[in-house]
Amino acid sequence: MSRKLFVTTALPYANGNFHIGHIMEYIQADIWVRFMRMQGHEVHFVGADDAHGAPIMIAAEKAGVTPQAFVANIAAGRKQYLDGFHIEFDHWHSTDSPENVELSQTIYRALKANDLISSKTIDQFYDPVKGMFLPDRYIKGECPKCGTKDQYGDNCENCGAVYAPTDLKNPYSTLTGAAPVMKSSEHLFFKLSDLRCVEFLKEWTEGNSAINGAPHLQTEVRNKASEWLVGKDGEEDSKLGDWDISRDEPYFGIPIPDLPAGTPPKYFYVWLDAPVGYLASLKYYFESGEAKANGATQTFEEFIADEKVEQIHFIGKDIITFHTLFWPAMLKFSGRKVPDQINVHGFLTVNNGEKMSKSRGTGLDPLKYLNLGMNPEWLRYYIAAKLNGKVEDVDFNADDFMARVNADLVGKYINIASRAAGFLHKHFQGKVAEIQIEPGYDAMANALIDARKFAFPSIHASYEQRSYSHLIREVMSLADSINTAWDQAKPWELAKSLASERIPLGTKDRLHEICSTAIEGFRLLTLALKPILPALAVKAEEFLNVQGMTWSDATHPLQAGHCIRPYGHLMQRVDPKQLDTLFEPPAVTHPDPTLEREGENGGAIEPFAPEIGIDDFTKIDLRIAKIINAEHVEGSDKLLRLTLDVGEGKTRNVFSGIKSAYKPEDLIGKFTVMVANLAPRKMKFGISEGMVLAAGAADTKSEPGLYILEPHDGAQPGMRIR
Ligand code: 2FM
Ligand code: ZN
Repeated sequence: MSRKLFVTTALPYANGNFHIGHIMEYIQADIWVRFMRMQGHEVHFVGADDAHGAPIMIAAEKAGVTPQAFVANIAAGRKQYLDGFHIEFDHWHSTDSPENVELSQTIYRALKANDLISSKTIDQFYDPVKGMFLPDRYIKGECPKCGTKDQYGDNCENCGAVYAPTDLKNPYSTLTGAAPVMKSSEHLFFKLSDLRCVEFLKEWTEGNSAINGAPHLQTEVRNKASEWLVGKDGEEDSKLGDWDISRDEPYFGIPIPDLPAGTPPKYFYVWLDAPVGYLASLKYYFESGEAKANGATQTFEEFIADEKVEQIHFIGKDIITFHTLFWPAMLKFSGRKVPDQINVHGFLTVNNGEKMSKSRGTGLDPLKYLNLGMNPEWLRYYIAAKLNGKVEDVDFNADDFMARVNADLVGKYINIASRAAGFLHKHFQGKVAEIQIEPGYDAMANALIDARKFAFPSIHASYEQRSYSHLIREVMSLADSINTAWDQAKPWELAKSLASERIPLGTKDRLHEICSTAIEGFRLLTLALKPILPALAVKAEEFLNVQGMTWSDATHPLQAGHCIRPYGHLMQRVDPKQLDTLFEPPAVTHPDPTLEREGENGGAIEPFAPEIGIDDFTKIDLRIAKIINAEHVEGSDKLLRLTLDVGEGKTRNVFSGIKSAYKPEDLIGKFTVMVANLAPRKMKFGISEGMVLAAGAADTKSEPGLYILEPHDGAQPGMRIR
C-alpha cells in the first residue's frame, strides 16, 4: 500500500555554514527518503533555516547588517553543500517567513484558548548598557567556589562547580563588559505541567504510530523522555515544569500577538517558532505548487490533517526535549496532528576525536571535502556503513573510510561490473544470455537466489529502520558470494580456451552464462545501494542500459538478448593524499610582530591589518569575474576601463588603476577576482561598479609592480570566493 510521508531534518541555525554533523543528518534522512520514493510512496521532504534568536541578532549586529540580511547570506551558501552531497530537499525555507509568523501565532492563540498559556514575572540579568536581558551564555564572572575569573554562568571550568548565573561573583556582560543588574519582566509560559499535557505526553512518548505501528520513539529516547516527565527517581522538582516561551525586546523573532494594550512588545522564544518552521516550509511548498509536481493531490491543510500522513522528524540527540515533549504538546493542544516518529541520531566524531560542536564543527570540513574533488558518494556510503537506527555516536575514521570505500565499495561491488563487462563485449556484443537462477544450479545462481529471497526483504526492513550499516553488510556479503563464484568458475580460463584450436564443447555458453549472471548480480546490488549512491546508480543504469530502477525491479532480471553498454569507469578509489589534505589544519598566517617593526630591513612586508572576525570578512562579497573588455581611459594615466562579467546576465563597468602594469589587450578574456558588493563610485570618467583585486607594495612609487589575481582553471564568472 502506498504511504504518504512528511519528512524533515532539524532546522539549522542560520549563523554559520553546515558542518559535517548537519551533513550526516541530511544524508541519513535523504537515504531514507530516496528509499521510500523507490517504493512508490508519496514523500515530501523539507528543510529550512532556523533564523531567529539572540545569537543571530547579535552576530548580525557585529557584522553591521540587519538580521534578515545576515540570514539571507547564510542561506545563500546552503545549496553548494546540499547539491554537492546529493541531498535533495523538496523545499528549503526559513523560519523568518510569513508562513511561519502566521502558523506560530495561530498555534499560540490555540494554546491560549485552551488555557495553556500563563504569565509570570521573573527576575533576570539585564545589561544596562545594551538595554537587553542577557541570556545565560552572555554572562561571565568569577566562580563562587574557587574564584577563577571569566567563568560562564552555569559551571566552572576550573573546579567543576555547578551554579546559577546569579551566583557568579562580579558578573559581567560579555556583550559590553557592563555589570548586569537584576530586572524583572513579565514572561509567558506554556503550561506543560498542566495535567492534560502530562497525561498526553506520557501516552504519546510510550506509544506507537497509528499509521505505521512503529514506536514514536526509540527505546533510549523514550526512557529519557519518561525521566523528564515523571522526574528523576521520582523527585518532584526534576519533573517537567512550564516552559518560558517569551522574550523581551530587543529580540529577532516573531511578535507575540494579542498582548494587553500598552505592554511592550514580546517575541516568541526561538525554540517555539523553530519547529513550527517544519510546517511553514511544507506550507510554502504546497502553496507554491511544488508539492503537486511531486505527487501531492491535497492542499496543505488537508495534507497536514490527513490521518494517513506520517510525520517524521530526523534530529540529533541534543534536541530531544524540544521534539519529544514541547513540539508534540504544541501540536496536540492546538488541535493538530502529532508526529509519528522522531528519529534520533548520535553525534559525529572525527578520527575518534572531539564531538562535532555546533559552533565549532571542527575536523572534517564538508566544503573542503567537496572542493578537494573527493567523491560525495564515498561519504554517503561511509556514513551509511556506520549508521544504525540507534542514538549511538558515529566516528569518522580516515583509515576505515579508505578501507571501506576502496576494498568494499570499489573492490567488491564495482569490481563485478568491470570484470564481467569486458568478456560480454569481447565475445557476445554486450548481449546478456538467459540467466539461470535455479536452486543448486551453480554458486552464482545460488547467490542471486539468496539475494532475491532473503537479502532483499531484509535490506528493505533495514532501510525502513535506518539500520543502514546492517544492509551494507548484507550487500557486501552478496558481493563476496558473487566474486567467489566468479573466481571458482574461472571465466578468464574459459575465455582463453576460446582462442584455442579445439574449443571444448559448451565453453562459450558457459562463459556467457557466468558473465550474464554476474551482471545481473551487479544490477541487484546497484538497486540495493541506490538510495545511498544515487549518482553512481544513474551511471550504473546507463552502463546496464536500464532506466530509473525502482524496488520492484528486483524481480525483473535482465532478459536474454538485452544489450549492456561498454564499461566506463564507475568510481575512483580514495587517494590517501586526499585524506591527508582534508585533515591538514588550515594554514593560519599569524602576523609576526617583529616583522612589522623591521622597517626597511630586507624582507619586511607591510604590517598586517588588525585582526577581524569571519563576520567582517563575509561582508566582503568577492566574485570571479571575466574580463570581457579592457581599454584605455581618455585623459587618465592610471586607469583602465574594464568590462566585467560576474555571471549576473549583464556586465559591469569598473575603473582599475592598473594601467602601469597591463596592456588592455593582454587582459581581455582573462578571469580575475572582484569585490562585487562595493558601493558604486562616481568618478570623473563614469561610474565604477566594483573593484578588481591586485597585489602590490604599499608604496608603488618606490616599489613598482602590480599583479592582478587570476583564479585556477575551472572557476566561473559569479562564483563566490570565501
Ligand atoms: O539545535 C539547532 O540547531 C536548532 N536550530 C534546531 C531546530 S530544529 C526545529 F525545531 F526547528
Ligand atoms: Zn571554580
